[in-house]
Amino acid sequence: MLFLVTSNIGKFKEARLVMERYGIVIQHLAIEKPEIQADNIREISENAAKEILKQHNKEILVEDAGLFIEALNGFPGPYSSYVMRTIGCQGILKLLKNETKRNAKFKAVLSYGTPEESVISFKGEIKGIIAHSSRGNSGFGFDPIFIPEGSNNTFAEMSISKKNEFSHRMRALKQFTEWYVKKMH
Ligand code: IMP
Repeated sequence: MLFLVTSNIGKFKEARLVMERYGIVIQHLAIEKPEIQADNIREISENAAKEILKQHNKEILVEDAGLFIEALNGFPGPYSSYVMRTIGCQGILKLLKNETKRNAKFKAVLSYGTPEESVISFKGEIKGIIAHSSRGNSGFGFDPIFIPEGSNNTFAEMSISKKNEFSHRMRALKQFTEWYVKKMH
């Protein structure tokens, strides 16, 4: 049984929907992932997987994601959860006030491991822009201010399945599931 370890129910719902399409059932292990401070999300994600595996005798997936804003030299990037908790979407909009270059990227690194196997990671990213104001009520985190390439709506103005057509998480999950399905056969 495969568990997605996250305290974020939104992440779980998105992942469940993507994986259903591949016939993979995932369970939710609703615990806070251990998060080291590091400059890249791959290190954070892999470290979290290793720490969780020390305590849970399970097949797990854990993900670390971040919003990388070009005009801010990639900030908040690996510090996204801290920035979300402190200044939030409004703080980001303030930092980008009068900024015309609003390009940004969401990146996700999904790490898979079992107590027997070493951890393996899969990446996904989506380019987009930071909106001029916060829009929409669905999703979580920076969804109300991120407009993915190919849409005029923010992630928070989309249904889960619409967000999944674009998202960094879906792209990482797709890489993972293609590998996982082969591994299982
Ligand atoms: P983490 O991967 O849960 O550590 O995410 C870091 C921060 O980025 C958190 O504040 C999340 O809410 C935010 N975040 C992660 N993925 C997304 C997303 O798909 N949309 C919006 N915000 C996200």
